[in-house]
Amino acid sequence: MSESKEKSCGCGGCGCGSAPAAASKSEQRRGFMFKVGAGLLGVGGLLTALPIVSYLIGPATKRFSNIWVNLGATSSFPAGQTRFATFLNPIRQPTDGDSAKTACWVRCIEAGQFQVFAINCAHLGCPVRWFEQSKLFMCPCHGGVYYQDGSRAAGPPPRGLFEYAWKVEGDALLIDAGRLPGLEESV
Ligand code: FES
Repeated sequence: MSESKEKSCGCGGCGCGSAPAAASKSEQRRGFMFKVGAGLLGVGGLLTALPIVSYLIGPATKRFSNIWVNLGATSSFPAGQTRFATFLNPIRQPTDGDSAKTACWVRCIEAGQFQVFAINCAHLGCPVRWFEQSKLFMCPCHGGVYYQDGSRAAGPPPRGLFEYAWKVEGDALLIDAGRLPGLEESV
């Protein structure tokens, strides 16, 4: 008699210690819903964090170097002279328009030996000008001055002019315009 009661126990209060069947099912449902909710929350958090993380670490992982741009024939840069040159930024966007035109200063030390300087002052980025008579680069913004080899001569710039990597192919002078010369050079 008591055996049949235990078998049919829901538990209806027979003293067996098991939870009522209805309460147990409700707990199972609650546990399942909790897991689904936690999973969805995790996926949502991941999707939200992904663009932020990629924004933060993206610039550090991007490398555009070794995009060689032709500055022209080496014969257009006579030995012992510093000449102005322009090129199109290879990392331009269609909306960049004229701002994609970039300039630099090319110094031909002797045949086949060059220095190519970024036009931007190492202080706050104003374009520097070359003065042949004094053989100095000067910055119109705050009076920064550089020697002909690009080293700092005077004024607020903390260092010399930034330089592009260059190479000669055939008769053409090429610079690595894929990476803007900047502070990363000094580390
Ligand atoms: Fe050239 Fe300040 S930007 S000296």
